[in-house]
Amino acid sequence: EHAVEFDTEKQYWSVHRYAEVVAALSDHTTFSAEYGRLIPDYPAEAFDGDLTQMDPPKHRQLRAIAGRAFTPKVVADLEPRILELTTALLDDVAGQDVVEFVRALAHPLPVIVIADLLGIPKSDLALFHAWTEMAVDPPAEFDHTDEKAMKELGESVADMNGQITEYLREHLAERRVRPREDLLTRLVQAEVDGQGLTEIQLTNFVMLLFIAGHITTTMLLGNTLLCLDRNPEAFAAVRADRSLVPGAIEEALRVMSPITQIPRVTMVDVEIGGVVIPKDNMVTLWASAANRDPRQFPDPHRYDPARDPNAHLAFGRGIHFCLGAPLARLEGRVALNLLLDRYPELRVAKTPLFKPNPAFTRVAELHLAT
Ligand code: HEM
Repeated sequence: EHAVEFDTEKQYWSVHRYAEVVAALSDHTTFSAEYGRLIPDYPAEAFDGDLTQMDPPKHRQLRAIAGRAFTPKVVADLEPRILELTTALLDDVAGQDVVEFVRALAHPLPVIVIADLLGIPKSDLALFHAWTEMAVDPPAEFDHTDEKAMKELGESVADMNGQITEYLREHLAERRVRPREDLLTRLVQAEVDGQGLTEIQLTNFVMLLFIAGHITTTMLLGNTLLCLDRNPEAFAAVRADRSLVPGAIEEALRVMSPITQIPRVTMVDVEIGGVVIPKDNMVTLWASAANRDPRQFPDPHRYDPARDPNAHLAFGRGIHFCLGAPLARLEGRVALNLLLDRYPELRVAKTPLFKPNPAFTRVAELHLAT
């Protein structure tokens, strides 16, 4: 087993171990997040504003603006609203013997929360849903060595961005005239060094928040319940001691990381894990593998809500560390606590349906017996 290997089929380097993944995430000068740079005629503008694909100094400026709009207080203040939403969603399925958890709660809760936060009206959620599906399930297999395919992918992304820009332009313009208590308003008003965000940055950033803000949290909620169900002792312990709820969520993030891989591209020849990766190569950092590295986590396959320390990489590390981690954790905590309150006998009723996708650990259907 090598720490770093070249995947001849995918044409990228795979990094599996904790130490090397952390080293790469911590060195953003060598391991650039702008992996689009390898694509010929790449419409760079198409991704301006998507923090996950930006390097400093632009990344630093946008992240500062985003950080101002998306403060810990903004997130903490959401708790009553999240509780209210979770209660309403569970009320809708009250009395059912079997509940399909993804449709009932894991999907709608984060979607409504992020839409609320942004200030997107409920009536427009279907539009956003279509755009999101396009982004998480792109039509063709991603092959960055195929120039024609990559060009087409770039064009379809640009086209989708065009539609989104058009939609958001109207809403952002309205916020400029009539500010509201929402994230769109804060983003429109936010400035760093006297400069606000451009329209394309605003659009891409809002879309990133919308996508990143719900599919991953949907996965987290489903995965946490699966982990608990598969580990009855841990489940009983969490029921008996609710202070273990945050640990149950962290441990689910570790053993079933919603985002399995983090892509980067090398800016120079670099030695890592005893291997030299040449400049301009794609590198896949396997957070999911690093999170089960026995060098970092004793008994790594064991699901242990009391694991301490638990410095997993499910939210990444370094300058791109997940901006929404506090929100995802809050939603997880509120949802799990309410489920435990309502359903003392909760268990998985039948084999869950997984959507095969190497990039995500995503349970698509999860039937729970109440
Ligand atoms: C970045 C995972 C929830 C917004 C990231 C990264 C990971 C991640 C691994 C780093 C990507 C990289 O280094 O290239 C997750 C997981 C979540 C979650 C597992 C839920 C369980 C959220 C939520 C939001 C959000 C709820 C927003 C409301 C973002 C943003 C970034 C990011 C804006 C980019 C930060 C940057 O590049 O500076 N997330 N995320 N995420 N996440 Fe999350």
